Amino acid sequence: MNRRSVVVGCGSYLPDRIVTNEELAQRVDTSDEWIQQRTGIRERRIAADDQKTSDLAIKAAQTALENASVRGEDVDLIVLATATPDETFPATATRVQAALEMSQGAAFDVQAVCTGFIYALNVADNFIRLGQANTVLVIGAETFSRILDWEDRTTCVLFGDGAGAIVLQGQDENGSEHPRGILSNHLHSDGRHHDCLYVDGGPSSTQTVGHLRMEGPEVFRHAVTNMASVLREALAANNMEPKDIDWLVPHQANKRILDSTARKLKLPAEKVVVSVDRHANTSAASIPLALSEAVEDGRIQQNNIVAMEAMGGGFTWGASLIRW
Ligand code: ACO
Repeated sequence: MNRRSVVVGCGSYLPDRIVTNEELAQRVDTSDEWIQQRTGIRERRIAADDQKTSDLAIKAAQTALENASVRGEDVDLIVLATATPDETFPATATRVQAALEMSQGAAFDVQAVCTGFIYALNVADNFIRLGQANTVLVIGAETFSRILDWEDRTTCVLFGDGAGAIVLQGQDENGSEHPRGILSNHLHSDGRHHDCLYVDGGPSSTQTVGHLRMEGPEVFRHAVTNMASVLREALAANNMEPKDIDWLVPHQANKRILDSTARKLKLPAEKVVVSVDRHANTSAASIPLALSEAVEDGRIQQNNIVAMEAMGGGFTWGASLIRW
């Protein structure tokens, strides 16, 4: 009998500190008008000095477990997507595992930058379908504020910190014509584009953490093309068309990227879940943060077709389709 990975709970966490565009304009040569016009971002959250990625992840995971009525000790697997781990090793996921008092199973990190959540979801889905795990926490958590060059106005205005999590559980299809759960995942990468978006540090190159570097317009161009094409690929794999999507929950990089992708697919703006205005780009956390909001406020309902897509450094890109 076929197993499906069904989302049974969502949760998110944002640090308390709100940094507005006006505040950034006091640090670098920028303006609220420029940032809003080019990106749609109004403000972002920044982690407190003593808050690590794992602290944000633990809070999001606890809320997701509570909403799913699942205890930490009943989780079989944690897959945590991050490009800003607490330490070079061990995996940030193991910190979350300890905090949730989960002593069984396994916990590990996945690194695909802004596409991290889609990669983590795909890994978790495969574990469930193969019967290797039944209750899985998938987390996206980031503290990008720690890898930004706060003197570079072309990048520091774009990102924020946060975390989101979902709980997946395996359920038998039971012969249903329209089974709930993850329908398919589609992953891509193309390492030739390294220089367009990377961090200029790391344990085996500079022995420093480094700062984010980006060719903004080049990333923009690829983002729109790749996100639209991978979403088409996901729809085709499920014999669906854009009109079948109830909610598109895209990676929240830039409102102009969201609008252009939706336009390419002829998707009405009302079907796109947007949080970039308040969260900025939180990399791997952006999709589960937006997802949690749309579930909490009742937009996403059971049996809705939810499409997610992302693109990030590598380049990496991917999409997932879920019957909620
Ligand atoms: N404030 C004021 N002016 C600025 C700022 C700023 N914060 N940043 C750049 N400028 C200036 C530039 O210096 C340039 O000035 P010049 O014409 O005198 O040289 C001018 O604004 C235009 O710069 P562009 O880079 O051409 O501006 P563009 O319209 O392309 O917008 C942006 C830049 C917002 C970065 C856009 O390219 C973008 O969103 N790219 C995608 C990047 C992204 O989202 N990356 C996230 C990671 S990947 C992902 O998540 C998909």
